[in-house]
Amino acid sequence: MKIGWAFTGAGHLLSESVEVLEELAKTNDITVFLSNAGEEVLKMYGLFERVSSITGGRYKELTKESDQKYSFPISGRFSLGKYDMLIVSPTTSNTVAKIVHGISDTLVTNTVSQAGKGGVKTIIIPVDIKKGDVKTVLPAKLEINTCEDCDECQAYKACPNKAIIPKQEIDLLKCTGCGTCENVCPFNAIESGKIITIHMRPIDIENTQKLVTMDNITVLEEPKDILTYLEDIIS
Ligand SMILES: Cc1cc2nc3c(=O)[nH]c(=O)nc-3n(C[C@H](O)[C@H](O)[C@H](O)COP(=O)(O)O)c2cc1C
Repeated sequence: MKIGWAFTGAGHLLSESVEVLEELAKTNDITVFLSNAGEEVLKMYGLFERVSSITGGRYKELTKESDQKYSFPISGRFSLGKYDMLIVSPTTSNTVAKIVHGISDTLVTNTVSQAGKGGVKTIIIPVDIKKGDVKTVLPAKLEINTCEDCDECQAYKACPNKAIIPKQEIDLLKCTGCGTCENVCPFNAIESGKIITIHMRPIDIENTQKLVTMDNITVLEEPKDILTYLEDIIS
C-alpha cells in the first residue's frame, strides 16, 4: 500500500507511533509528513533519525512543513487519490481542533483536508481521547534541585548541540535527545523519559468526540490498533 503518515507535535504516544511506522514500512511505501512541531518534538525525544531512516525514494519522502511554503502542493497527492491511506499519529489537541473546524493551514491539517477531498481513508490517533488524567513521558529534563552547579558542567561540555544551560534548563529546541548529557552528569541531574500525569481538558475531549463523527475519518485509541485495523480490512 501507499500510505501517508503524519506526525504532529505530541510527545504522548510518540515512541509507540514510531514503532508502528517502522513495522508498516517493512511492507508498504510510506511518505512521512511532519508538522513544524512534529519535527521539533521528534528531535527532542531522539526519534527523528529513526523516522528519517525509513524514508527515501518516490512516495517514501520525508516531508517537513519547515521545508514548505504556504500552499503545501505535496498534499495534492491526496486529493488525486495517490495514497491508499493517511495515518495521523500522534495527533495533538491543536491539530484535532483544527481538523474538526475545517482548518487546513499546516502541512498535517492540509493532508487531512485533501485526503477528505480525494476520498482517502484517514486514521487518526488523538492524544486527548478520554476524560481524566493520563500519564505521559517527558524528553530530557535538567533537575535544578539535583544539579550541583559544578564549576565545569560535564553535560554542557559533552552536549554536541550546546543545548544545556547549566543550572537552568535544557534548550529543547537545540536538543536532539541523544542522551549524552544524561550519561556524563556525575550527579544524575538530567533525566529523560520521566513520567508525569496531565489532565485532559474538556474542550480537547469534545473536539475528539466531534472527530469521531466526521466522514472518512476513523479514530483509534493507540498506535498499535492501526496494525489490527489494517489486518481486519485486508482480510
Ligand atoms: C516536549 C513537548 C511535548 C508535547 N506533547 C504534546 C502532547 O502530547 N499533546 C499535545 O496536544 N501537545 C503537545 N505539545 C505541544 C504541541 O507541540 C504544540 O501545541 C504545537 O503547536 C502543536 O502543533 P501541531 O498540532 O501543528 O503539530 C508538546 C510540546 C512539547 C515541547
